[in-house]
Amino acid sequence: MLNKMGIIGGGMIGGVLLQEIPRRRLARRVGLVDIMPPDLAKGKCLDIAEGSPVMRFDTELSGSKSYEVLEGAELVINTAGVPRKPKPDGTLPTREELLQTNLKITAAVAAGLREYCPDAIVISIANPLDAIVYRLQQLLEPEPGRLFGMAGVLDSARYRWFVAQAAGVSVENVEALVLGGHGDTMVPIRSACRICGLPVEQFVDEETLAAIEDRTRKAGGEVVKLLGTGSAFVSPAWSALEMAEAVIHDKKKILPVSARLSGEYGVEGLFIGVPALLGRGGVERVFEIPLTDAERAGLERSIAAVRKTCAEVDALV
Ligand code: NAD
Ligand code: LAC
Repeated sequence: MLNKMGIIGGGMIGGVLLQEIPRRRLARRVGLVDIMPPDLAKGKCLDIAEGSPVMRFDTELSGSKSYEVLEGAELVINTAGVPRKPKPDGTLPTREELLQTNLKITAAVAAGLREYCPDAIVISIANPLDAIVYRLQQLLEPEPGRLFGMAGVLDSARYRWFVAQAAGVSVENVEALVLGGHGDTMVPIRSACRICGLPVEQFVDEETLAAIEDRTRKAGGEVVKLLGTGSAFVSPAWSALEMAEAVIHDKKKILPVSARLSGEYGVEGLFIGVPALLGRGGVERVFEIPLTDAERAGLERSIAAVRKTCAEVDALV
């Protein structure tokens, strides 16, 4: 158990994190910061604290509009970002406008982290995922491995669930990896997909697998369309917590992580979804795994897409 965890952004994902951290006994204290008036963070903490006798936990929850509430946090999960929604004049913001807004938020996030918990391990969830972590890296310059992004755990969980449904087996029997950037170019790695250790092709036919991989790439959008407002929030929070638990319990667990690459997969300085070992030091090792020619080409395309967004970040800041 940590002494203190921090959550930045107390919206849909932050709200699930705030419930789950005490239930999973991950930290004695949790600090939540959200700028939403009148005081969303304080309100969410009060709601959950008042229910703590029923759920039987003594975790101290503090919410605030000020980043001071993160003081001393050892691990922080960042969810602060705005989704693409109509402006007051009814028009949608361009991709660039959205990126600009989220970069401003990210600057505030980084300033808060630097001031109140400069040594914390940071797991970032805000979108565009790989580009926001890239910007945080520039602003925070953390020790290697102490900053990384969550996307691959969620994308792989979606792939695993679709495969389990198609094969008629438990989700616990399905192992899978989705690598690359968190966007339409993400790469479901079929050659690493196993059911009880056996190749997935022994259980699911080619046509169904191709459809599953297509659905996986678009799975975030599928939920957005169904919800009407906002995006998936429970599964992203659980996915980030799988990563947090690997760190807190020093599990040495290999998960798909948006990790900073130093030459692996031919990439220098970008955050890309790759298999990485998570332990008390954060990302302790990145693995280069064998890929088929098609998977390798897909990963190259995805890396190019992340590189393009990061170049947009560099041009905007
Ligand atoms: P949300 O809008 O419900 O919550 C975001 C919160 O951030 C809001 O409450 C907002 O007030 C707060 N915020 C804005 N600026 C802030 C600042 N400067 N400091 C502190 N808080 C600030 O959104 P959500 O559904 O919780 O999603 C959060 C982010 O995660 C979004 O960017 C979303 O696109 C992304 N997301 C990522 C994945 C993934 O797999 N990586 C999956 C789903 C969603
Ligand atoms: C997802 C998006 C919103 O749900 O990042 O995957």
